[in-house]
Amino acid sequence: MIIRTAKESDRNEILNIHKRAFGKEKGPVISKLVDDLLDDETARPILSLVAVNDDKLIGHILYTKVRITQTESPVSAQILAPLAVLPEFQKRGIGQKLINEGLKRLKASGTELVFVLGHPTYYPRCGFAPAGKQGFEAPYPIPEEHSAAWMVQALNGDALRNINGKVECSRALNEPQHWRE
Ligand SMILES: CC(C)(COP(=O)(O)OP(=O)(O)OC[C@H]1O[C@@H](n2cnc3c(N)ncnc32)[C@H](O)[C@@H]1OP(=O)(O)O)[C@@H](O)C(=O)NCCC(=O)NCCS
Repeated sequence: MIIRTAKESDRNEILNIHKRAFGKEKGPVISKLVDDLLDDETARPILSLVAVNDDKLIGHILYTKVRITQTESPVSAQILAPLAVLPEFQKRGIGQKLINEGLKRLKASGTELVFVLGHPTYYPRCGFAPAGKQGFEAPYPIPEEHSAAWMVQALNGDALRNINGKVECSRALNEPQHWRE
């Protein structure tokens, strides 16, 4: 299995990974989100990585740009969304490898903060911690019972010290339907 930057010619296979991984109800919604994000000027710079096994794409992760508003210190930040691994390849560490390879590349290119809205038991394994407590407001209010799902991590030791504010995503990700759970 290798991880490489996604190419434009991978797009259909990538959309199919999300359709299958997220299932009947959410699959089409998330797949459309990915399609939209890949064309969204406001999402750039993006980092789109695929996991490849025997020339077949088996996983995909997308990081897109966010801005922190209501803050005085400018910071370079991204959000991880979405991540998917084909059902028959899950639970082999591929999701974690995609996350970590992405974080490594983002750090190398100077990104300071990375956000995610996701499973609160999964992402802390890769260094994420609750973002609300750090003073970061999500684009839409997260209900108290799901507050642990809104997470952040600093890729450079100091990045969390002096900053808080409201996170504003790209146009495609800023749709309220993507912030309901
Ligand atoms: C979430 C997902 C990307 C993980 O990929 P993966 O390659 O199976 O992940 P890894 O092998 O790195 O890690 C597997 C671990 O994640 C856990 N995990 C998977 N889905 C989870 C979930 N919804 N909530 C909590 N933990 C979850 C597994 O139980 C497993 O735990 P274990 O190591 O204790 O057995 C994959 O399950 C997937 O595509 N799911 C459907 C789409 C989705 O929910 N994406 C995430 C959106 S936030």
